[in-house]
Amino acid sequence: MSARRLPLMCGIVGYVGSQSALDVVMAGLKRLEYRGYDSGGVAVLSDGGLAAAKKAGKLVNLEKELVERPLPAGTTGIGHTRWATHGGPTDANAHPHLDNAGRVAVVHNGIIENFAVLRAELAERGHELNSETDTEVVAHLLAEEFSATADLAEAMRLVCRRLEGAFTLVAVHADDPDVVVGARRNSPLVVGVGEGEAFLASDVAAFIAHTRSAVELGQDQVVELRRDGVTVTGFDGRPAEVHSYHVDWDASAAEKGGYDYFMLKEIAEQPKAVADTLLGRIDPSGSLTLDEVRISPSELREIDKVVIVACGTAFHAGMIAKYAIEHWTRIPCEVELASEFRYRDPILDGRSLVIAISQSGETMDTLMALRHAREQGSKVLAICNTNGSTIPRESDAVLYTHAGPEVAVASTKAFLTQLVACYLVALYLGQVRGTKWGDEIQAVIKDLSRISEEVERVLETMEPVRALARTLADKDTVLFLGRHVGYPVALEGALKLKELAYMHAEGFAAGELKHGPIALIEEDVPVVVVVPSPRGRSVLHDKIVSNIQEIRARGARTIVIAEEGDEAVVPYADHLIRIPATPTLLQPLVATVPLQVFACELATARGNEVDQPRNLAKSVTVE
Ligand code: F6R
Repeated sequence: MSARRLPLMCGIVGYVGSQSALDVVMAGLKRLEYRGYDSGGVAVLSDGGLAAAKKAGKLVNLEKELVERPLPAGTTGIGHTRWATHGGPTDANAHPHLDNAGRVAVVHNGIIENFAVLRAELAERGHELNSETDTEVVAHLLAEEFSATADLAEAMRLVCRRLEGAFTLVAVHADDPDVVVGARRNSPLVVGVGEGEAFLASDVAAFIAHTRSAVELGQDQVVELRRDGVTVTGFDGRPAEVHSYHVDWDASAAEKGGYDYFMLKEIAEQPKAVADTLLGRIDPSGSLTLDEVRISPSELREIDKVVIVACGTAFHAGMIAKYAIEHWTRIPCEVELASEFRYRDPILDGRSLVIAISQSGETMDTLMALRHAREQGSKVLAICNTNGSTIPRESDAVLYTHAGPEVAVASTKAFLTQLVACYLVALYLGQVRGTKWGDEIQAVIKDLSRISEEVERVLETMEPVRALARTLADKDTVLFLGRHVGYPVALEGALKLKELAYMHAEGFAAGELKHGPIALIEEDVPVVVVVPSPRGRSVLHDKIVSNIQEIRARGARTIVIAEEGDEAVVPYADHLIRIPATPTLLQPLVATVPLQVFACELATARGNEVDQPRNLAKSVTVE
């Protein structure tokens, strides 16, 4: 993968059936707009011809274009929502890309590394390429191969064998009007199978309104969609086994459900997401049954080190997991940013357990880190929210979080469920290794089972947090402090504010203040402090109360998040946000929620796009 290009995460939809392909594809694209939103396009096969429309900007621009210049009706079509990589977000660079005769249309997610060579070859053979994209070469190559084979799937296989890089491709050809063909290498693509119709998409959200029956595509596979079924082969043409599965999500889960933003909906869904992630993982006796973790208890007993790799918010979940894993299992645990991991030649072997945490399951940095870990002989356990995505597929084992689709770019419910999954893994390790007694595990599980209600209670008391956020909309800087597990919570609060409110926000370990950051404190700078429970290690609590006094004496406006009944903080809190009392290690599950609400409200007050912050997209599929 190249580092010089922008991240990409386009959305792709393909359809063949009896409905209006344009309607199905446009509705699917809307569901996928979170994957990329700098341009969009569609192509429809109709009356022996192919008609396409594409437009830079959000999908609404494409919708307007389709009203002004309607496409003919057809029942086979493809569409794309783009996040620019090769070439800027212009109409010409938007997908689909067509060959010179306008008979074949192709959409693409990924990067074709050898496109320059292919482009030069095509130019020599007289092809005229009209965009700056790598994708366009595929349209031309497909046209050439189709003219030789008259079989779009075979043409796709031949072309794919010549491509280097990561790609999902979906194509149609006017001379094969009842077929949509897709191909996948290192990039997501799922198939939906309905009655007399079939779908292709980057994510099931695009077609769950029509069918919940899905087919997983493996690496280097080509799928041929017809009204009466799908055929899957390898790039080499050999028939492949078809793995079908049922999608648990329903259509409404992928919609905003009456909230202004997906992020608000997803924050509100957290009590359920947390409860769902525990579901089926505790047997009636209160023991953990993580059957899906396909690493045997004897292998887990051999583990002498845990290494967690993840990015962004998932990394913060990993930081918190370290406290739980080391405390409950006494196994040394490292946490590392996935993007840094393999470049420092980490010390790994068959006794290291690597945990890769990822909501999307497609984050390239995390994927590359896990591949590196497996090359060193380590076992990899994925904690992931996206069924069938690349990270769990390439791991030895997976524990799925059950947060449901997370559409807002800023991660919220995925974070809380990642924490729950991490606690479950830590407890499971303690259970199989005997470092925790059964009754101790049951006590933590009982506490975890109550968390869903506690999160609900936090959500019910968020109005003052929203009101406070609105008063801070003109501030330049907000700082966040925490200790112990409150430190990653502070980092997460700062990350949410950066990405949503575009404000300077930083999180610090409160003890580090005196080593430099305290110089940032000046009159009326808001400082959010996450206070550990006074019922836990009292020294932690006392120290942070001193830290609050220090910053307040220097003019900071203190926003204190403290558990109910903690009276010691009251004199030093300009604003006090109460959270329910929880065991120390579980506090992040409740302490993070006000920070999510705070960031969301501040972003709204500053007029920012909450669900699609600038420069960001939901899954980052390049390094
Ligand atoms: C922040 C955020 C990102 C992701 C990160 C990893 O709100 O969403 O920092 O957490 O890009 O993504 P996943 O979990 O999909 O690997």
